[in-house]
Amino acid sequence: MKALVLSGGRGSRLRPLTFTLAKQLIPVANRPILGYVLDQVAEAGVKDVGVIIAPETGGYVKEYVKDGAHWGFNVTYILQEPLGLAHAVKTANEFLRKEDFVMCLGDNLQGQGIVSFVEKFEKEGLDALILLKEVDDPSKFGVAMLDEKGNIIKLVEKPKEPISNLAIVGTYLFSNKIHDAIERIKPSWRGELEITDAIQEMINLGYKVKAEILKTWWLDTGKKDDVLAANAKILDEYIKREIEGETVNSTVEGRVKIEKDAKIVNSTIRGPAVVGGSCQIENSFIGPYTSVGKNTKIKNSNIEYCVIMENAQIIDVDRIEESLIGRYAKVTKNNRKNTIRLHLGDYSEVEV
Ligand code: G1P
Repeated sequence: MKALVLSGGRGSRLRPLTFTLAKQLIPVANRPILGYVLDQVAEAGVKDVGVIIAPETGGYVKEYVKDGAHWGFNVTYILQEPLGLAHAVKTANEFLRKEDFVMCLGDNLQGQGIVSFVEKFEKEGLDALILLKEVDDPSKFGVAMLDEKGNIIKLVEKPKEPISNLAIVGTYLFSNKIHDAIERIKPSWRGELEITDAIQEMINLGYKVKAEILKTWWLDTGKKDDVLAANAKILDEYIKREIEGETVNSTVEGRVKIEKDAKIVNSTIRGPAVVGGSCQIENSFIGPYTSVGKNTKIKNSNIEYCVIMENAQIIDVDRIEESLIGRYAKVTKNNRKNTIRLHLGDYSEVEV
């Protein structure tokens, strides 16, 4: 079995961060989302991994994954214009050849690994196995309609009228029959070759396609709020109390990780939270579900449920909540009455 990890796309809903970073590299609990996805592939014992990259952001992905040795992989990079998930499979044809493969979206996180799904796929000799999860807003995803025995009746990509509340999760297992199906489909209204259409075509062709409902959480980190939710989940599940940095006259409550050379002065850090290496935190409150990247400076400020990336500065800001702040960003207070002064990148968002 091989793996195809999709780390391309435009990341348009996460601009401006995605002008200088691939969306799969946005950190949660101070580690790129893609890292957790690759961990799950490694856990399933897969060694040959194709990583799909986009022309604009592929360099950043390569810088992070390198030759894959960290996970014990042989990595092949495959460049793809963002023209859909089925198009990515088509582009990877030469890498995949005739083998079975697991396809993972590099920006999807799920609470449960993929081992049991790989086992089911192999044991039952399937041509496709998809994972489903109940969601509140099915129109944002590929959606499946099942009969009472759990067999798939129909799959629709981003249905306008919901046919069910079961979204297709970004982990798929395929035999080489997927390639025949992709040859038979046409681009959708959004101009993409949809994997959902290809799986529907496999069903039409009478191939063995099954669905399994995911029992744990799943998040597609396409937008700011999803990144914050993923950060909260990962902090909850992965962070243990581990204090390497220095604390002076400060309170550190609960599951908090303070990395090397960070200095916390006259402050409270309440877990789950992580403070990166060489951060300086002074007269501040870092509240639950917050990740602070390395080398960031926070002074006289209160922060809760945020992802602050490395080398940022937050000075004299009363309270920041539910925010995603990029590298080298500065948020400070001015002394002018009722005046906000901004210097924002393209597509930035500010709520005042
Ligand atoms: C893609 C798939 C969709 C799936 C989703 C999971 O959507 O087309 O079927 O439910 O990933 O994240 P996209 O991210 O391209 O909108």
